[in-house]
Amino acid sequence: FLKVKANKLANPFFIGMAIKASQLTNGSPYDIILENEFSSISAEYEMKMDQISTTSGVYNWTVADKIVAYGNANGINVHGHALVWHNSVPQWLKDFSGTDAEFKAEVKKYITDVVTHYAGKVKSWDVVNEAVDDNGTTMRNTIFLQRMGAGYVKDCFQWARDAAKAAGDNSLLLFYNDYATSTNIPKQNKVFSIVDDLKAGNLIDGLGFQMHNNYLNPTKAQIQTDLNKAVAKGLKVHVSELDIQVNQSNDISTFTNERRLAQKAKYKEMVQLYNALPAANKYALTVWGMRDNESWIPYSTELNHPGNDWPLLYDSNFAVKSAHTGFLEGL
Ligand code: XIL
Repeated sequence: FLKVKANKLANPFFIGMAIKASQLTNGSPYDIILENEFSSISAEYEMKMDQISTTSGVYNWTVADKIVAYGNANGINVHGHALVWHNSVPQWLKDFSGTDAEFKAEVKKYITDVVTHYAGKVKSWDVVNEAVDDNGTTMRNTIFLQRMGAGYVKDCFQWARDAAKAAGDNSLLLFYNDYATSTNIPKQNKVFSIVDDLKAGNLIDGLGFQMHNNYLNPTKAQIQTDLNKAVAKGLKVHVSELDIQVNQSNDISTFTNERRLAQKAKYKEMVQLYNALPAANKYALTVWGMRDNESWIPYSTELNHPGNDWPLLYDSNFAVKSAHTGFLEGL
């Protein structure tokens, strides 16, 4: 069992799972696996801004509360994902007709209210998600950049920190989260320049590496270099959205044994790399979904990945895959 084995390590860390509230039926196979195998949860989408806030100043807490209460009641760590992300901007905010200063005030209010609502219940937040453009040199041209200017990332972290402190939570961990930084070196450098800026204000505690990987890439060395940079800066490392595609080029129609073993090896490698981090830099290694048939990968328009894939640890019948064995071997 992943959780049991991880807990026995000299320097343990959380084994995380991205979940949906609809899956939290007491006694279901999903629930049993979650409680036996995983020690941290992230909401796959239900704690994003477009879900929590459908009107300015009005909050739909019900679903997000269910997720947080489930973690709290079962001794499972809760990681908040994500306060600010260009792909989950509510319609009312996209359409917001006020001034830039008023827009900024709306974002500040949102971050403050959400962090306050979950103070002491959510251990960490991805404050800003995917703020760097894939060209690696500029900030992603989002509504937040356009409306709030280049200082928006820092502002968001400051508001999150301030809200936590005001609510008496001095241990909330604040993360910046992004993808493809191990292979896209300009992007990696840009992310670490954001980190330096945030560190100067003592505003960041950790870095989330999404790790939507495939059975070939990134290489072990590329991942290691990326993670080590975070270690050198004294940050906690969250492998925040791990999945390993085996059909990224859509060249197979069934899951072949060769790909099965390649995926297993890649999961093992990722876990070993994570496990080798210094204790102080460990936090959680989170897998982005439980069963292959529930993975976001085939549905992602950005990944342009229309075919089948089998990126996760369990098959559609909740049976463990070789990937799961590889994960376990890496611990
Ligand atoms: C995805 C979820 O998996 C989907 O269910 C949702 O519809 C869209 O978002 N990077 C992130 C995650 O930071 O929030 C995304 O999750 C996947 C890419």
